[in-house]
Amino acid sequence: MNAPLPAQVLKQHLIDPEICIRCNTCEETCPVDAITHDSNNYVVDPDICNGCMACVPPCPTGSIDNWRLMVRSEAYSVQEQFGWEELPKEKALPVVDDAAAPSSDEASDVLAQPAAQTTFTLPGASVPPWSAAHPYVNLYTHKAPMTATVVGNYRVTGADTESDIHHIVLDFGELPFPVLEGQSIGILPPGVDAQGRPHHARQYSLASPRDGERAGYNNLSLTVKRVTEDHGGVAAHGVCSNYLCDLAKNDTVQVIGPFGHTFLMPNHPRANLIMICTGTGSAPMRAMTERYRRRIDTGENGKLMLFFGARTERELPYFGPLMKLPRDFIDINLALSREPGQPKRYVQDLIRDRAGQVRELLADRNTCIYVCGLKGMEVGVLDALRDVTMQGGQDWSILHDMLRREGRLHFETY
Ligand code: A2P
Repeated sequence: MNAPLPAQVLKQHLIDPEICIRCNTCEETCPVDAITHDSNNYVVDPDICNGCMACVPPCPTGSIDNWRLMVRSEAYSVQEQFGWEELPKEKALPVVDDAAAPSSDEASDVLAQPAAQTTFTLPGASVPPWSAAHPYVNLYTHKAPMTATVVGNYRVTGADTESDIHHIVLDFGELPFPVLEGQSIGILPPGVDAQGRPHHARQYSLASPRDGERAGYNNLSLTVKRVTEDHGGVAAHGVCSNYLCDLAKNDTVQVIGPFGHTFLMPNHPRANLIMICTGTGSAPMRAMTERYRRRIDTGENGKLMLFFGARTERELPYFGPLMKLPRDFIDINLALSREPGQPKRYVQDLIRDRAGQVRELLADRNTCIYVCGLKGMEVGVLDALRDVTMQGGQDWSILHDMLRREGRLHFETY
């Protein structure tokens, strides 16, 4: 039964600080700005949250999905939540009056449901493609991380360029670490922050497929850009990216995860992938492409179409190996924005240039679209997909809804 809550009872939305990896996805997603953070925790303001659930599916760890029935006047404040190291124990509700207070059965029913039905729209799907393999998440946590060994660390951009991007290979030895393409892991950088607390984990997408960076080995790879300035161009030292880029072979790293249950590739034969990325957003595209490459002779593959944005060829990670892939295996479209002597191109420009082929793939229900990289490209890519669809005489809003519902359009931007 789905009982209405008495007015003095609140179904309070909380975030588990022990599992949260502070990736900011929930704060960006919340349509009513109920989620905020300080240097310690991400928290939900009980006075603003309407229980719409928009933030729940995109959360890679599931830490967002915590609810407590509280007497409204005793709801945990934002300030209280900032100080938490773990969620407080559940409290029994005092019986307010026999008619109004929910029974324990009613209370658990209520907790299983969103408190309010607010319509919200995410740009992408909140479910994986129907045929995606089952992902494992949160096998290793902040409290019990696992130790991986660095077995490779090399630069994948031109040495003379500003974009210092590394390909880092981590080996898990005997410990199980099952992953899928599109998932991510958390790295715990050593040391403490300005408040003297251990650094939070930083999230990185896998660049290798499920069977390892080297097929059959218990390892995986990451694509990490050394952060030396923030998005506005102001000097800023990236704690974890610099730590990772400076690691030497045989160093050890604390890892948590895996994370992610929606940005996953279809697992059925002849599925097509449209992959749209900038810079290090190429990591999941490399993982998916490599999954297809390893089974190139099986006849199972659908089409691969890649739109990849970078400043110049020399700043495009994995440029050499990418260009060696056979043309009939992957349709590669490079958007270079600062290549001397060439016009500035973004991925969305190339999507428009290739409208016919994009439309053909979009018309096939075996096609999934993945977008990863700079947040700024999200709108541009959606506009380009809308334009090519409309040019073909189709209604984009209908197609967009279908792509989301069927788990066929996925965004991971930062
Ligand atoms: P730009 O030269 O305008 O910065 P970065 O190297 O900073 O990670 O960026 C990767 C690529 O993404 C660059 O070519 C960059 O172009 C491009 N880019 C920047 N903003 C957008 C945007 N809003 N949409 C698409 N691509 C973008």
